[in-house]
Amino acid sequence: MTARIIGTGSAVPEQIVTNEDLSKIVETSDEWISSRSGIKERRVAKEETTTSLAILAGKRALENAGIASEEIEVIIVATCTPDYFFPNTACQVQEAIGAKHAVAFDLSAACSGFLFALSTVQAYIKGGIYQKALIIGAETMSKMIDWSDRSTCVLFGDGAGAAVVSAEETGVLELVQKSDGTGKGVLSCKARETRNLLNHESETKEYLYMEGQPVFKFAVKTVPKVIEKAVDKAGLKVEDIDLFVLHQANLRIIESVAKRLHQPMEKFPTNLEECGNISAASVPILLDNINKHGMICEGKKIVLAGFGAGLTWGATVLTW
Ligand code: UT7
Repeated sequence: MTARIIGTGSAVPEQIVTNEDLSKIVETSDEWISSRSGIKERRVAKEETTTSLAILAGKRALENAGIASEEIEVIIVATCTPDYFFPNTACQVQEAIGAKHAVAFDLSAACSGFLFALSTVQAYIKGGIYQKALIIGAETMSKMIDWSDRSTCVLFGDGAGAAVVSAEETGVLELVQKSDGTGKGVLSCKARETRNLLNHESETKEYLYMEGQPVFKFAVKTVPKVIEKAVDKAGLKVEDIDLFVLHQANLRIIESVAKRLHQPMEKFPTNLEECGNISAASVPILLDNINKHGMICEGKKIVLAGFGAGLTWGATVLTW
């Protein structure tokens, strides 16, 4: 038995913030943002939260899979922007969707989070522990952003994507997960200050920090390698892969990966133009987009790949 994705869903906030809008709050331009990253606009939460987006994406994935919430045995929410220290986001999803038999927990692996959640479910399924799972990548990156820092505020967005995973004969073929804590300094967001208010004034000043160029180099070096390794383990060649669903951080990273793998850009769907980088939610939202647009049908070979803070990265090869 292996993990098979049998339904997808996604949810994004209503508010659209364009590059033009951002050029009014920091010294930037549509030309710079588009040419350096490929991003044109992003969704930014007003009323929505990481939890509300996760719930909506999860409900839509269940509808798409055509299964009842009571059948779900485990819910994993991958997020680096939860609304609470506790309870975890997954327990709030469990309550909202009525998945009363599910064990529920969050997982933190930044932009690789959805991939790591799928790997965890794969291990549960291989071990015969659970057969049906709901995995969600959900983020409100906007609350971690210093909106006066033009080098980061133009890149990120908010949203959630979800997948229902079931134990079946075919599905995930192989996966590779990697971590390197020595790279922790190039992309981080320190926990918000929580002090004893009896003795201290509280002041929140921790925001996302990124050194763009080292992260860019890390991505273009490691992502093709990890994809090749996963594809090779699956007994396939990169030419056999129909679609590469990559974390949506930068169009130039995706183009570089395509070039290094000698594969045409047509095999690399994108949505970063309208979503920006949504960390753990990028891959499942894109997967839902292409699923809803009929771009994938049974039997297609798909690679999912994520990379980000930690550093963490990974690739999963699956048959749809
Ligand atoms: O999801 C986690 C993974 N994250 C990533 O994969 C992100 C990886 N990194 C990147 O995508 C790119 O490095 C960026 C898009 C973040 C930046 O692109 P870059 O080509 O590496 O630009 P840079 O950082 O070298 O900056 C070039 C110039 C600098 O000015 P000077 O020093 O050349 O005068 C920056 O100050 O562009 C300036 N700059 C901007 N200018 C206008 C930086 N941000 C902006 C901006 N608007 N928003």
